[in-house]
Amino acid sequence: MQLHLSSWPEIDTYLETSRAILIPIGSTEQHGPNGLLGTDALCPEIIARRAGDEAGILIGPTFNVGQAQHHMAFAGTITLRPSTMIAAMFDWAQSLTRHGFERIYWLNGHGGNIATINAAFSEMYHGITFGPEGSNRAPLRCTLRNWWELAGVGDLCRQLFPVGEGHHATPSEVSVTYFGYPEAQKSVTMTPRIAPVGPIYDAEDYRRRFPDGRIGSDPSQASVEAGEKIVTAAVKGVIAEFARFAAG
Ligand code: NI
Repeated sequence: MQLHLSSWPEIDTYLETSRAILIPIGSTEQHGPNGLLGTDALCPEIIARRAGDEAGILIGPTFNVGQAQHHMAFAGTITLRPSTMIAAMFDWAQSLTRHGFERIYWLNGHGGNIATINAAFSEMYHGITFGPEGSNRAPLRCTLRNWWELAGVGDLCRQLFPVGEGHHATPSEVSVTYFGYPEAQKSVTMTPRIAPVGPIYDAEDYRRRFPDGRIGSDPSQASVEAGEKIVTAAVKGVIAEFARFAAG
């Protein structure tokens, strides 16, 4: 069930049986020569939508721009300042709690978002603690899960791509997007086959160290078939974890 494809009476009806919603959250940033700019937003969205269809979970709109400053030397990348992202997440949560939601499960697709998402949770909880006495604010609990850490997913990715999984523009994440959007597949020869590894600092430094955007990966191994396997495992994991979170 997707919020965007629902009417307000349908959301009212959903709230009679559940106070929990799942929001995919990611980034719009370069993902190497054959990876889509939307990869980090599309992966959690693809997984979430299927979980929503299978288990009746309400899926909110994707928060699809995040912390991508270090990718800004590559065309197409869009980034938010941490303070902007915290403020926007706060307003999304305030809107949802106004309607009665008490549990927000954020399914994340970008490692660079983690610190800011946790800071946003702290901002939300401060908002409740510092609210005026008797303001009758709804209780709110948020949780963050990175899709690649869902039960069964990490082992599967290592099994599918024992060499060249790497750290950025991985064959696993590119496979998930190719499964979701097979028409967007790109055939590119990677040079070198496995990208270099190293630290992440600023945007210009990143481009010097990682000229085509990849870190440690060979995403030319990505395939629709691998993506389907990863999505199937992730959907199973997220349905089980969301149920526990919604009930807790
Ligand atoms: Ni990514």
